[in-house]
Amino acid sequence: MQNKFYVTTPIYYVNDQPHVGHAYTTVLADVLARYHRLLDVPTFFLTGTDEHGQKVAKAAAAAGLTPQQQADRTVVRFQELWQKLGITHDDFIRTTEERHKVVVQKILADLFQRGEIYRAEYDGWYCVPCERFFTEKDLVTGNCPDCGRPVEKIKEANYFFRMGKYQQWLLDYIQAHPKFIQPDYRRNETLGFLRQPLNDLCISRPKSRLAWGIELPFDADYVCYVWFDALVNYISAVGYLSDEAAFKKWWPCSVHLIGKDILTTHTVYWPTMLQAMGLPQPEMIFAHGWWLTSGSKMSKTAGNVVDPMELAERFGVDAFRYFLIAEMAMGQDASFTEDSFVRRFNADLANDLGNLLNRITNMIGRYFAGQLPAPAENALAGPEEKTVWDTVQAAVTTLERSVTEMRLHEGVGAAIVAVKAINRYLELKQPWTLAKQADKAPLATTLFTAAETLRVAAGLLFPVMPEKMAAVLRSLGQTNTTPKLDELRAWGVLKPGTPVQDCGPLFPRVEKVEEKTEVGGQKAEVSSKPQVPPAVINPPPSTIPQGVELLDYAHFAKLELRTAQIVTAAKVEGADKLLKLEVLVGEERRQIVAGIALHYTPEQLVGKTVVVVANLKPAKIRGVESQGMLLAASQGDKLVLVTVDGEFPSGAKVK
Ligand code: MSP
Repeated sequence: MQNKFYVTTPIYYVNDQPHVGHAYTTVLADVLARYHRLLDVPTFFLTGTDEHGQKVAKAAAAAGLTPQQQADRTVVRFQELWQKLGITHDDFIRTTEERHKVVVQKILADLFQRGEIYRAEYDGWYCVPCERFFTEKDLVTGNCPDCGRPVEKIKEANYFFRMGKYQQWLLDYIQAHPKFIQPDYRRNETLGFLRQPLNDLCISRPKSRLAWGIELPFDADYVCYVWFDALVNYISAVGYLSDEAAFKKWWPCSVHLIGKDILTTHTVYWPTMLQAMGLPQPEMIFAHGWWLTSGSKMSKTAGNVVDPMELAERFGVDAFRYFLIAEMAMGQDASFTEDSFVRRFNADLANDLGNLLNRITNMIGRYFAGQLPAPAENALAGPEEKTVWDTVQAAVTTLERSVTEMRLHEGVGAAIVAVKAINRYLELKQPWTLAKQADKAPLATTLFTAAETLRVAAGLLFPVMPEKMAAVLRSLGQTNTTPKLDELRAWGVLKPGTPVQDCGPLFPRVEKVEEKTEVGGQKAEVSSKPQVPPAVINPPPSTIPQGVELLDYAHFAKLELRTAQIVTAAKVEGADKLLKLEVLVGEERRQIVAGIALHYTPEQLVGKTVVVVANLKPAKIRGVESQGMLLAASQGDKLVLVTVDGEFPSGAKVK
């Protein structure tokens, strides 16, 4: 087992308020920290703010504030957001704090004294927004190679860190430590960068040009370059040169989480700085991708930022955290759209997870007066019980591996697969039918198994959705709502006889109202709040188009509409739009071919209770027999299945 876990986020600039990109790294670090705590690994999680440099000075000037006022005002936005998002950092470092400045100055003095930092005349190009110097050949069509914006010609005396002399050492180090920079494609990017000669790094700014920074201890006319100052936070916060025991305990760091745009500073500047200081390297630097909106990086400059505070208010903190972790394959870019948010929310959280809890607690309420029933002694000898337990245990293994391999999205995906398997287990066992038998033992085993497997799935998702999963565990009668890994591996943690309570809808479905929907000749308002009907400005026109024949009731009564449970779903080979479903209409099993493959994946369908036309003549569709038809609502290229509200047996008449 690991002896400790130390995780960091980048420290965020206080020139502006946080957006989803910042929230992502911090939530990711929080989830990793919480998983390690669940594994009983001593954990330290650091975040903070980067408060010096030109960006902050400029923002302050624009707002008519001093840089310190700007920092004091903006840091609160980050701190409030982290509190709102349930972030459990152990420390929050601000680079304007004395504890940090002292360490930066000690490091500078030492490096200067040992000749690792020297003074020289500089003549080159400077990018103000990136705060980086470039040589003529670095420029791309005369502009900054990183951001593409114009650069300024600068000639001045400055101080330089002898970074160049570490080039070969760094190349060798990266080659010898394959996990040092992750994912592999980012490692290759850094190796590519190091194929060019590595220049020394300018680490000073003359106060005449920029006074907002940490003063160089050997020349009061200069302040320290903001990146040299900022990177040091990772060691100043854990006691470097101030608390030897703490530093020894936590350094080297287990993983620096960063965005891909700050790869060079973290995988070239920082390792060479540490090497010059004689300190060990972090175990891993992991660069994640970007959140994109409309195909480009979400950023203040692009004007396409999504406000995380607002999203957490609207959809709930845990749903927001879940979306961030589940939607972005770690390392790659992902798109942030309201559509994808609502789709994932409804499919994974409202349908799969929320409904499952409600089904279990309702049935235990109804059939066992709200007390968890006892399973058969050898419950796991039952083939369905064994299958569902094995699936849930496989999710425990996948999740554990996904944490060490930095593929969290896969672990979370496995937990949702486990939730689906529990739903499927209930469909197969049909507890509502078992309840009609005199012998209540099979019903008791079924409901206990469902509750016990849900306990494990909720434990797995706890680090991602701590509040909601604690509510699930409380509902299942658990008093200790902080799970531990050994409990997730054990059968029989829930105790028969404990009260089980309904906690109401865990994730009420979200209805998304399309922007620009024409209603009564005017635009409808855009809203997507849980369980809020579409906002309509004008009363809608009659929904019966002209020329449609009206039926009397006798005609309608000929239609046999029934509820049906989808048991299996699979694609029909050679037909992109068709799915072959097996459904249970009461006791009867039927095969239905439905043209819904563009709207639902097979996994989304299993376990759903839908409405079918049960007295249609069987027909062959693409050579496959279809014994009925599903009802669905469709408009334009959208389609949603007609389902029934809440827990309901299959085979019921719909009228
Ligand atoms: N202050 C520096 C980091 C110093 S660390 C010693 C900085 N700050 S930042 O506020 O500009 O950005 C912080 C992080 O947010 C970076 O990792 C960056 O990649 C990330 N993101 C900014 N926009 C982003 C997206 N649209 N998507 C995902 N993350 C992105 O850089």
